[in-house]
Parts: sequence; structure tokens; C-alpha cells
Amino acid sequence: MVTKMKPYERFSEKRKTVCVQGLGFVGAAMAVAVANARDSEGNCLYNAIGFDVPNEEGRKKAEQINCGSFPFENRDEALAEAVKRAFEEGNLWATTEEEYYSLADIVVVDINLDIVKSADSPYVRLDAFKNAIHTLGRIIKPETLVIIETTVPPGTCERVVWPILKEEFGKRGIYEGNIRLAHSYERVMPGKDYYNSIVNFWRVYSGIDKASEEACGEFLKSIINTEKYPLYKLGSTTASETAKVLENSYRAMNIAFMEEWGSFAEAVGIDMFDIVNAIRVRPTHSNIRQPGFGVGGYCLTKDPLFAKISAKELYGLEGLDFPLSTKAVRINDNMPLLALDRIESFLKGGLSGVRILLLGVSYRQDVGDTRYSPSEIFVKEAEKRGAAVTCEDPLVGYWNEMDREVLGAIPELGNFDVVLFSVDHAEYHGVDFAGLERGSLKLIYDANNVLTKKQRKDIEDREDLKLLSTGRGE
Ligand SMILES: NC(=O)c1ccc[n+]([C@@H]2O[C@H](COP(=O)([O-])OP(=O)(O)OC[C@H]3O[C@@H](n4cnc5c(N)ncnc54)[C@H](O)[C@@H]3O)[C@@H](O)[C@H]2O)c1
Repeated sequence: MVTKMKPYERFSEKRKTVCVQGLGFVGAAMAVAVANARDSEGNCLYNAIGFDVPNEEGRKKAEQINCGSFPFENRDEALAEAVKRAFEEGNLWATTEEEYYSLADIVVVDINLDIVKSADSPYVRLDAFKNAIHTLGRIIKPETLVIIETTVPPGTCERVVWPILKEEFGKRGIYEGNIRLAHSYERVMPGKDYYNSIVNFWRVYSGIDKASEEACGEFLKSIINTEKYPLYKLGSTTASETAKVLENSYRAMNIAFMEEWGSFAEAVGIDMFDIVNAIRVRPTHSNIRQPGFGVGGYCLTKDPLFAKISAKELYGLEGLDFPLSTKAVRINDNMPLLALDRIESFLKGGLSGVRILLLGVSYRQDVGDTRYSPSEIFVKEAEKRGAAVTCEDPLVGYWNEMDREVLGAIPELGNFDVVLFSVDHAEYHGVDFAGLERGSLKLIYDANNVLTKKQRKDIEDREDLKLLSTGRGE
């Protein structure tokens, strides 16, 4: 009788085993990067095991990885090739069974940590995160390096993770000096450069002690092209956690800052995109953002709120409320509604029965990620005001958060009253407005600087169509 070997039983014993906890947008790509790490002679360095939760979604992600396919729609060829290489090499396996954490030499934690944005005081859902760390503490071997990549309130490694590992090790009679804990955050950008944003990009890290810090540095050097993108070591895990939160808060704030300037441009008839390009020439101002449809995705919509939570919950600090960061999140959340207000005021008669075609429901171009997409805020409010919204996105078949089907190709624009471009997917640059059958179409709204100069000119040259754009006055 032939007994079928479990995939991990075929793993080479010469390699270290790296477990990645959480097979989401970050963890799935990280697991692939780990499986692709090679020594100078081209030999694979690690066995990689990806873990997700034992529910339908988690099992599906694990199965996809085990069949050699990546669980998220994207347009990155480098990632597709890396997935194929790992599949052929057979050193990547995914599971939902926790017991296999016992095989780990290194665990990379890439699970989600959600924030609830309640009116005045946002709070974090720490229980699920804590449970995940308890699981590791119960199962991993002494001296297994745990690297937290999940974005957390600053202070979490020292004040939440380390005490849990200590407690669980204590129950097993393992001395706390065997805890190896580090923090290093991802700057992964799902999209065309998904894979490279992990392996060819700068990294910040720190460890809870010297041994953890050194082990983390060694691991990162083996995954990332650190000759070209050197590592930056910070003085403590709290400093590294703060760097991540500040980095994303800065970006969210920069975007929110442009909202009032975009509204000004619309009101006085100037082009804010042109103005921003003029300013970007100056090196000190090269990263100034531009007006748009708001901010989406899992990170910028929540990370600016982590500092306030940290100050209050982890350090008991009074009066450190981070009002600017909090306001930036609110302004960004409101941006899709500004577009909706402009559409409503153009139509004069209100939105009841108005047929709107929304082109783009993911939160950014080249990826099918719809988490906290600005389109969700737009659709909910538009429908509340009586509009009938049809959605299209080349990378999203089913919109989970809205529980609805999404068209995969652009329908006849003439069958709608309003067409709104919200995401800069390449497909939209091919729409021909010069030869378009107008039908019932009255308004084209470019909410995210999607249309090309020629497309804008073609619309403006027509007397039967109106073009409105966020950040551009007439
Ligand atoms: N998405 C990004 O572009 C990005 C970039 C940088 C950093 N981050 C941060 O990385 C972290 C992960 O983000 P993401 O986008 O991959 O989130 P995600 O929601 O796509 O993935 C998290 C995954 O973890 C799984 N999970 C939850 N609890 C688990 C457990 N106990 N055991 C095993 N699996 C578990 C979930 O089922 C899910 O598949 C977050 O902190 C995020 O802020 C995200």
C-alpha cells in the first residue's frame, strides 16, 4: 500500500522552516517570497508554510496556494513567476492546522488587526490578535523567532506580545530567555509591483533584545535584496511599530490635505493636477499628493488611528489625542461623498431613479482588493439617495463587502445618466468619447484623474455631454 506523504514531509531537512501566520494580501506574498529565497549557489534557503484560519475562506486560500495559484487577483508577472517557481520546487505548503507551527524556526505574523471607527473613540479588536499569539506561544519551539509584521499600536510587541509568549512558555516550563521577538513592517504595494515591493524594497526592523534583533536582521537579509535596499535598524520594537504608523499617517494626512485645495480648484476654475505637477518639480515637495476619490484599502484608512489607541490603551497617556491624524481619516472617508454631492447638484432634480455607472470598485488600480474602497461609501450613499448604481471592475467579479456581482467589462455608456470613473484601471483609457452614442448619458464624472488629456478633450468638444472632475474647475 502506498501512503501519501504530507507535502511538508517532502521538505528538505537541511533548510530552516518559516511559518507565515495569515495568508492575506501580505502573508500570501510573503510566503511566496520566503519560498523563493536562495543562497549564493541558487539553493532554496527555506521551507515555507502558510497558515490561515480553519474556515471556508482560509481553507480556500490554502488550497489555492497548494495548487500553485495565488489567492488574489493582481497583475504582477514577477509574483506569478515566483508562485510557479515555489510550486515546482515544492517548498511552499499552506494549511489551516495549527499543530504545524511546531516545525517553525521562524514565524512571520501577517494577520489582520481591525479597528472599529466609533464616533469619537476608535478601538482596536485586540482579542483575535492576542489569541493568535497565544496559539504560537503554546506550540512553537524555544528560540523560534517571531516577527510581527502586522500593523499594531506602538508598544504592542513589548506590552502585549511578549507577555503572552512569556505566559505560554511559562506554562510549558520554558524560560522566558528563550523568547525571540522582533518587529519589521511590510511596505508591500499590491498592484503591478506587488512582489518587488517585498523583495526589492527598504525595510525597518528591531528586536526585543540583541539575539532577536540579530536573528531578524539575518532573516530579512536572506529574503530582501539588502545590497540595493539596506535595512534600517531602529532602537526598539516600539520605535519600529511607530515608524509604520507614522509613515502611513503622513501619507493619509498628505492626501486629506489636498481635499480642500481640490474643492478650491473646482470652484475657481483651475486645474489642481497641473498645479501639483508644477510643485513636484521642487525636490522638497516631490511627494505632494493630489485630489481624488478618497483613500481605500486596509492600511491608510485605519493606521492613523493607531497612535491615539496606543497612547490611551497601552500607555495610559491623557491629552495625546492625535487630532490631525483623526481628522485626516474623516476627511478621506468623506471624499467620495463630495463627488456625489457635485453629481447631485449638477442634475438639479435629485438622484431618485438616476442610473449611475461606477467604473472601478477596487481601492486602487491593478489589484482586485475592495477592502474599505471609497466606491463602497459612494454606492451606499448614492443608493440611499435613490440612485440605481451599476458597478464594473475588470479585476473584481464579486464584491464581497457589498455582497453583489460586478460587471467585468464596460457596458454601453449610453444606457446610463451618469458615468463615474473612480479607479485608474488601464481599460478605462481606451474608452472612445468622440464616437460615443450618447443615449441618455448626461454627465461624465472623473473622480480620480483617470481620463487622458485626449479623452477629456473629446468630451469637452461635444456639446451634448458634460464633464466634471474632482480637483479640476471648468
Ligand atoms: N495590504 C497591504 O497592502 C498592507 C501593506 C503593509 C502592511 N499591511 C498590514 O499587514 C497586515 C495584514 O494585512 P493584509 O492586507 O494581508 O490583511 P488580510 O486581511 O488580507 O489578511 C489577513 C489574513 O490573516 C488571516 N488570519 C487572521 N487570524 C489568523 C490566525 N489566528 N491564524 C492564521 N491566519 C489568520 C485572515 O484570515 C486573513 O487571511 C495588516 O496589519 C496590514 O495593516 C498591509
